[in-house]
Amino acid sequence: MNKQELAQLTNEVIKLSREIGNWMKQQTTHESTAEIKTENNLVTFVDKESERRFVEGLRNLLPQAGFVAEEGTGEKIEGGLNWVIDPLDGTTNFVHGVPVWCTSIGLTDGNEPILGVIFDPNSDEMFSASKGNGAFMNDSPIKVSTIATLSSSLLATGFPYDDFGREEQYLRLFQSLMHRTRGMRRLGSAALDMAWTACGRFEGFYEYGLNPWDVAAGCIIVTEAGGKSTEFNNGSNPIYGLDLNCTNGLVHEELREIIEQYFS
Ligand code: IPD
Ligand code: CA
Ligand code: CA
Repeated sequence: MNKQELAQLTNEVIKLSREIGNWMKQQTTHESTAEIKTENNLVTFVDKESERRFVEGLRNLLPQAGFVAEEGTGEKIEGGLNWVIDPLDGTTNFVHGVPVWCTSIGLTDGNEPILGVIFDPNSDEMFSASKGNGAFMNDSPIKVSTIATLSSSLLATGFPYDDFGREEQYLRLFQSLMHRTRGMRRLGSAALDMAWTACGRFEGFYEYGLNPWDVAAGCIIVTEAGGKSTEFNNGSNPIYGLDLNCTNGLVHEELREIIEQYFS
């Protein structure tokens, strides 16, 4: 796909995300309607129905692509084009009525993300990017922040909620960063953490135990906004690597060195 075709496809994914995201916002749900997938891991009718709608719409847009979708719809095409879908990122917030959640749609070619759309229906913010075409919030181009030191940075992270195997290391890292930054935030949506890094609200975001659908769209949006996404150890496959260091690029190495002291 050339740049122009990718840009056109991005516009179609934007339309689909707006339509489905606004439908999701109209759905009211509460804890009694949520099912528990694994400990502390919830899923609702809205996760499943929005995924069904996304898969149907995306299949029409690009019939040759496969799917890596959180709720299990569709088949992956190994090494080919795949839609990587988190229909509702921030389900725990959604279930508790906290208006911090989004839709997140990535398109990958092999392991490389080439298109991403993250829609926050609560603030009506549409983040999008495709390879070589830049990153946008609604119709405006976005760039990562120009802050170059952790001491002036606001960072985001996610707390482990079902994989407590690295809890001690995680808490020590968190404590260290608490002392070395302007502040730490935990929104409860990895995709929004990345989108907010892309538009300069956060200097960086890190978390372990993530899945491809949490980060695929965010990776291309951050890259096209001038930032950087790697695994904790700087590995170049953050989508399938399960841990993520995602920054404005300028604080990347400083954050990596501190992470390395706890996760080596
Ligand atoms: C979760 C959110 C959360 C992060 C978790 C994710 P979900 O996604 O992104 O911020 O800490 O690791 O699993 O389950 O709400 O789609
Ligand atoms: Ca998610
Ligand atoms: Ca989800």
